[in-house]
Amino acid sequence: MKRMVSLLLILALIVSLSAVASVSGAEAVVIGDADGDGEVTILDATRIQRHLSDIGEPIREPYLKAAVVSGDVELSIVDVTLIQRLLAGIIDRFPAEETTPATQPSADTLVVVFSRTGNTKPLAQYAADYLNADFFEIEAAVPYTDADIAYYTDCRADREQRDPDARPAIAGAVAQMDSYQTVVIAYPIWHGQAPKIIYTFLESYDFTGKTIIPFCTSASSPLGTSASNLHALAPNAVWKDGRRFAAGTSQAVIEAWLGSMGY
Ligand SMILES: Cc1cc2nc3c(=O)[nH]c(=O)nc-3n(C[C@H](O)[C@H](O)[C@H](O)COP(=O)(O)O)c2cc1C
Repeated sequence: MKRMVSLLLILALIVSLSAVASVSGAEAVVIGDADGDGEVTILDATRIQRHLSDIGEPIREPYLKAAVVSGDVELSIVDVTLIQRLLAGIIDRFPAEETTPATQPSADTLVVVFSRTGNTKPLAQYAADYLNADFFEIEAAVPYTDADIAYYTDCRADREQRDPDARPAIAGAVAQMDSYQTVVIAYPIWHGQAPKIIYTFLESYDFTGKTIIPFCTSASSPLGTSASNLHALAPNAVWKDGRRFAAGTSQAVIEAWLGSMGY
């Protein structure tokens, strides 16, 4: 019995030591995780508020740094607001997580994605990782609510897709498009076609001489004419054949596809 108890104690010690070790590694700490429980919840916003008001235990490193989600030098009420906005789905990442390809291009390839419900984005990220590319997420100036994409209800997306002139405005821009030779454009199929915001994107820049590689995700529809119908919007680009992927397609499949085209 005694031996059993000491074995359990040793085991508990090992487990707690390995937990401390993983917390002390900088990359093991989740951005926004002020209370150190491994995830970002409303409790982190509360924890920051209490820290700023000098109530209770102060937040200590490494969680203090992780709590500064604004990317500023020190913790402030802005970090509380940003966590609330992330949890409410108003933003999808913290400024501290932003990469800034628009101002500091570091690659000759740009991966662009529009992904309203999150299926296409990870696939685009796989492509960007594989190609060592910069990443630009198209966000609508007026974000699409759930009601806006409830298709077959005459929702905003339904109306835009059947309106040949619809060009939903984009928030933000790629500042130095000139620096990219190759642009991967990833989108979901909306009524058999690319969302009209992709049309807006293509009409916003000069793609002369650039190679464009389109791909899409869909519930079941094929790529169809969704990519070839984009050619007229960037007629001086070199368009590669596109491809349709299912949601949840693996990194290996995306890499194999790009590899098969010589990338
Ligand atoms: C307005 C709208 C129209 C859609 N039309 C189609 C369609 O015609 N065929 C299809 O297979 N999937 C259709 N879908 C499903 C999406 O293409 C699919 O869920 C896609 O993976 C979503 O990508 P995202 O999560 O990156 O936004 C539609 C979705 C929406 C919101």
